[in-house]
Amino acid sequence: MKREQFSSSLGFVLAAAGSAVGIGNLVAFPVMASKNGGAAFLIMYTFFVFFICLPVMLAEMSLGRHTRQNPLGAYTEIGQNRAWRTVGWMSVITPFMIGVFYLVITVWIFGYLAKSVMGQLTELAAPDSFGSFINSNELFVYMAIVIGLTFAILQGGVKQGIEKAARVLMPMLFVMLIALVIYVFTLENAMLGVKFFLIPEFDKLTGKVLNGALAQAFFSLSLAMGILITYGSYIQKNNNIVHAGKMVAGLSVLVACCSGLLILPAVFSFNPDIQLSTLSESSISMIFTFLPKIFLAMQADIGYFGASFIAGFFFLLVFFAALTSLVSIIEVPVCSLMDQKGVSRRTALFSLGAAMIALAVICALSFGRVELFSNLLSYGGINKSFFDVVYDIFYETILPLNGLLLCLFVIYRWKKHNFDAEISQGNDTFAGSFLQKYVNFSLGTFIPFILAVIFVNTVATIFFGKNLLF
Ligand code: PHE
Repeated sequence: MKREQFSSSLGFVLAAAGSAVGIGNLVAFPVMASKNGGAAFLIMYTFFVFFICLPVMLAEMSLGRHTRQNPLGAYTEIGQNRAWRTVGWMSVITPFMIGVFYLVITVWIFGYLAKSVMGQLTELAAPDSFGSFINSNELFVYMAIVIGLTFAILQGGVKQGIEKAARVLMPMLFVMLIALVIYVFTLENAMLGVKFFLIPEFDKLTGKVLNGALAQAFFSLSLAMGILITYGSYIQKNNNIVHAGKMVAGLSVLVACCSGLLILPAVFSFNPDIQLSTLSESSISMIFTFLPKIFLAMQADIGYFGASFIAGFFFLLVFFAALTSLVSIIEVPVCSLMDQKGVSRRTALFSLGAAMIALAVICALSFGRVELFSNLLSYGGINKSFFDVVYDIFYETILPLNGLLLCLFVIYRWKKHNFDAEISQGNDTFAGSFLQKYVNFSLGTFIPFILAVIFVNTVATIFFGKNLLF
């Protein structure tokens, strides 16, 4: 069967931006930026996005478009040996496992969306609400709905499923985000939040913060998960990869900034004297514990329906962002199974879906409901649940490793001239440009080096409880 393609460069950009824009941009970024130097963090983050992440992004997209294959197929075809094939396997298993825990978080968001729409803000803002929600039976109802939606999109294929969903959801997401920013700007004390977000404090940029900013930029662009290789394999040959990559990176940064202009003014209008050090580092507690309190407090001004509407609107926005990311990550194993085994999309979806549902249920039961899953292992001096183990191994550890191997693969195995030739299709100005020299040089030298350092330090920190750097 002929491989499906995105209908245009814009179709690809929206799908890839759908993957990139997720909970990371909308929630994790504002929390991190506000605590770590505001605009100074933003400047460093943007620098990392364009100077470190963009070359990796171009490498993934070109590799996908050149081979017209999933990551396993791409590494096998060009690598020509067992070792690279193993790396190919890692690039398929990693998104599958990250998909499992991302699915669970998306289900939580969907649950909060449903509850906001049903007007249950008081329950959501109660101190214990999140803990009891994630251990409730109704969670499985929400899980069934999210899985149904995700699979319905994926069943539609590249053009009628992934691209169509992105074409509908992404513009809605941008409009909703801007509408919410405008709304929070009208709240009292909102400007305190804007000030907090935008005043740069360069002395807060420690090594640890820089490491966090780079990791955030890297993950936020969905790098090293095989996603851009897979989506790249659906790009038309005459589309301009460099242009598309810049657009995706730019949109991702833009959404992160807008989200900062949404969340911080909301936080400050809720409590102008808030000490940001008291805000938790984790985006999970920000979104599921702190924000519901703000929505509830809005009832005083805009009433019960108004506050429920704003809360529902916000969770819908985050849900759209999470859904398009979830679709992208599950497409990687689906596409791999279709390519490698020649099965239909439906068969691939059903078999992978069954495995994924089983693992997602185990994840969902690992927050205290089932002792074995809740205290699965202990390392680095901490007891870890199944959810934590999946997160630590695949998200924290294997991602930088995959990124590092991808750079080495493209530059030293596939070779620079082949990579350049692929990018140059659809782009006459790349050959001989400064960008070409920078991309080739950085991918062969300091980018893999930095990723190697991050990988080693993550392993030491998480599994041995010893941070080697900070
Ligand atoms: N880019 C996503 C975010 O910022 C992260 C992600 C993408 C995670 C795709 C999983 C799958 O939230």
